[in-house]
Amino acid sequence: MAQITRREAIQTAAAAAAAAGLGACGGSAQRATKGEGVPYVLIGAGDRGSFLLKRLAGTVGGRCVGICDTYEPNLRNALQFAPAGVKQYRDHRAVLDDKEVQAVIIATPLYRHFDVTRDALEAGRHAFCEKSLVFRAEEVHALRALCEARPRQVLQTGLQRRYSPFYQAARQMIEKGLLGDVMHIRAQWHRNGAGRRPVQDPKLERQINWRFYKEYSAGPAAELASHQMDVADWMFGATPEFVSGVGGIDYWKDGRETYDNIHLIFRYPRGQKLVYTSISYNGHCDLLYGKRPNFGEEICGTAGTLHITIGDAANPAVGPAMGMWFSEPNAPKKETGKKSENWVAGATVSTEKMTSKGLPLLLPKDVVQRSDGFLEKELKFARQWLYKHDIAAPEEDRNPVDLSLEDFFRCVRTGARPRADLEVGLADSTGVILSNLAMEEGRRVFYSEIGKLGRGPLS
Ligand SMILES: NC(=O)c1ccc[n+]([C@@H]2O[C@H](COP(=O)([O-])OP(=O)(O)OC[C@H]3O[C@@H](n4cnc5c(N)ncnc54)[C@H](O)[C@@H]3O)[C@@H](O)[C@H]2O)c1
Repeated sequence: MAQITRREAIQTAAAAAAAAGLGACGGSAQRATKGEGVPYVLIGAGDRGSFLLKRLAGTVGGRCVGICDTYEPNLRNALQFAPAGVKQYRDHRAVLDDKEVQAVIIATPLYRHFDVTRDALEAGRHAFCEKSLVFRAEEVHALRALCEARPRQVLQTGLQRRYSPFYQAARQMIEKGLLGDVMHIRAQWHRNGAGRRPVQDPKLERQINWRFYKEYSAGPAAELASHQMDVADWMFGATPEFVSGVGGIDYWKDGRETYDNIHLIFRYPRGQKLVYTSISYNGHCDLLYGKRPNFGEEICGTAGTLHITIGDAANPAVGPAMGMWFSEPNAPKKETGKKSENWVAGATVSTEKMTSKGLPLLLPKDVVQRSDGFLEKELKFARQWLYKHDIAAPEEDRNPVDLSLEDFFRCVRTGARPRADLEVGLADSTGVILSNLAMEEGRRVFYSEIGKLGRGPLS
């Protein structure tokens, strides 16, 4: 296999990123002064809520004025991550009685997403609600109706990949035709472990390990796959026609009711497929040369492939966001209707030479611009060379969770529509609900079925 030269690699990777229009993306939060901002309360201060509070402490645009949790130990624990003296609430309705509060950030277990979000919206507040946005089919319809009646209020879903510069670059590469016709996505979230939380008092088992019980949780489809179903919808630019799959409780037979493994196939309108697996007894991931374990996506087009994964939220230094681009040798010449741009500006790169090794997906800061000075250009070329030779890797400057939270506050201030808006959240929740139905009933479930499901009164 012929080796690609330094110059070819750099030109190709840079041209890909430039063609992807990266200068225009990357979370559009306007900077605001620290200490000012939208007064908000966090509702649900467990693992995720505490994590969000830590991230929020380093962001601008919002001002934490309170924490709400029904479980005293979690409320007390989360106080350490909030500004001193914030108000404490044990009931979310008391938060909504407080006139100072403009927005709420909801990180309750899935079965409490809808009622807390509904109450917040009905009380005139803006809401950021964690994924998966809603739990049951009837809530899909009810939340849509509620939001349509309140167009001035912001509703954002906690799907942070939408705010990642890497994922935005991937989407723009697809839009520009750099991957050809994208027909296949493979996604996985594999882990090795029961995922069981320790419980001191057996009476608290269902409350603490709510993810294992169908009364409260939609299992791995909601907790893990929801992120990647959303990625596939975004990259394909469509929602699926149907889903089929197999799930089981096959390894961790510990009293749980929700699956410990799921295997799903989604068919999209032009025959594109998302092939998805989540298992809990092996954490290996063969994407990105095995550099990151657990989770990621492989996006396959007729002209190329992307491997991509988000940074490990808890430890991005150990598990950074990564993206690799592999060009497809001898790509078919079939007319796709999409205009593929002349993306290798001025350079003739044989795609055959690129098959053995992927090129890192570049972020805007690494792309050489015409306006760059000599030194800046040289620095960028040097960084690209280091990436190409695996000595360093492109890194997102900011955590997508931070970008998503700042953008929520920007939307509250400006009335703009979030990237991960109501419809993104509802499409995602629909995918979760129908995937579980497909696995439970052992049949192909069509997305059109959501129109009829859950049309009775809300229980
Ligand atoms: N976007 C992401 O990447 C991401 C990551 C992790 C978790 N999440 C989501 O965040 C949510 C919370 O997950 P978690 O792991 O933090 O759960 P958790 O059990 O650790 O925390 C949930 C907290 O909500 C509290 N709570 C329950 N009902 C409440 C109510 N009515 N009012 C106020 N507080 C209430 C609980 O007492 C608990 O402290 C889930 O929906 C999960 O899917 C999202």
